[in-house]
Amino acid sequence: MPPRMPIPAPGEMSGDGGVRRQFASEPTTLQFPVEQAVAPRPAAKSSAASAEVALGPTGRPMPVLPDPRPLTEHGGARVISMCNQKGGVGKTTTTINLGAALAEFGRKVLLVDFDPQGSLSVGLGLNPHEMDSTVYNLLMDRQTTIDDVVVPSGVPGMDLLPSNIDLSAAEVQLVHEVAREQTLQRVLAPAIERYDVILIDCQPSLGLLTVNALTASDGVIIPLECEYFALRGVALLKQTIDKVQERLNPNLEVDGVLGTMYDGRTLHGREVLERLVQAWGDSVFHTVIRRTVKFSDSTVAGEPITSYASSSSGAEAYRQLAKEVALRCPDV
Ligand SMILES: Nc1ncnc2c1ncn2[C@@H]1O[C@H](COP(=O)(O)OP(=O)(O)O)[C@@H](O)[C@H]1O
Ligand SMILES: [Mg+2]
Repeated sequence: MPPRMPIPAPGEMSGDGGVRRQFASEPTTLQFPVEQAVAPRPAAKSSAASAEVALGPTGRPMPVLPDPRPLTEHGGARVISMCNQKGGVGKTTTTINLGAALAEFGRKVLLVDFDPQGSLSVGLGLNPHEMDSTVYNLLMDRQTTIDDVVVPSGVPGMDLLPSNIDLSAAEVQLVHEVAREQTLQRVLAPAIERYDVILIDCQPSLGLLTVNALTASDGVIIPLECEYFALRGVALLKQTIDKVQERLNPNLEVDGVLGTMYDGRTLHGREVLERLVQAWGDSVFHTVIRRTVKFSDSTVAGEPITSYASSSSGAEAYRQLAKEVALRCPDV
């Protein structure tokens, strides 16, 4: 019997304060026995009515997720950070694939690699040793503009501001800057009018770079691996978000909590999802990303799963997440 995951005290981590869109019909806590709550959604679309009451993997009724509305003009980007100080939870994978799925829906997307490990850049096929300019230059050198740094991602409609290990120096150097927390916000400002969505892939820490990302953002998405102890440390992340909200960026909202690497065949995985919903309520996305090796394969191939394995369940999951993000965030 694995250890039970500690459940945070009520109020400590309610996580619903920043969410703009609630689904009124949904319970905030599970009201079903576990087995019933995690019963797989029937695949057959017998009628629209039965589809509406089907329970999703999070144990709540699965809402109908329409395709995002077509856009006739671009700009006014929503900036969203992928944030969790734990590594290996799916931040980079979500940045690449949510971005690619939103681009498929006609959004102009800019990805920002804000992790000195540069996994986002490598995951899109770039060589870290062959970058002329990176986000580091954009932050530290006033002569460098976004146009000097931006590169195509290989996905139509999606661009990338790449990074490599140079960015680790910025964390130290920024400490001496005036308005050090607002540096990324300042340099990204010209991109807002050109893109519909800007996704920032944060590093696994709550240091100055992550505070910069949160200060520059309208929303934050928190990927959480569906594993025991996944919730550990999330209270600290919530505190950091609250502090940034209070002191630097009152507009910052939690756009959602995303369960990743989910294995629906195990009771373990289902229990973790259940607890996620108990802790974060309707902040938890109905969409859950299942565990599949296709994600590692697509990273090796240097492209998103939406193009590497376009009809795979992983690609479909990120398309569904894109619809859910667009539904929650009308400015996407
Ligand atoms: N849903 C998933 N199923 C299986 N492997 C995954 C999944 N999501 C991510 N991975 C793999 O897990 C590793 C860590 O993911 P990554 O997105 O880099 O996490 P982070 O950016 O939070 O450190 C990578 O090798 C990635 O390919
Ligand atoms: Mg990463």
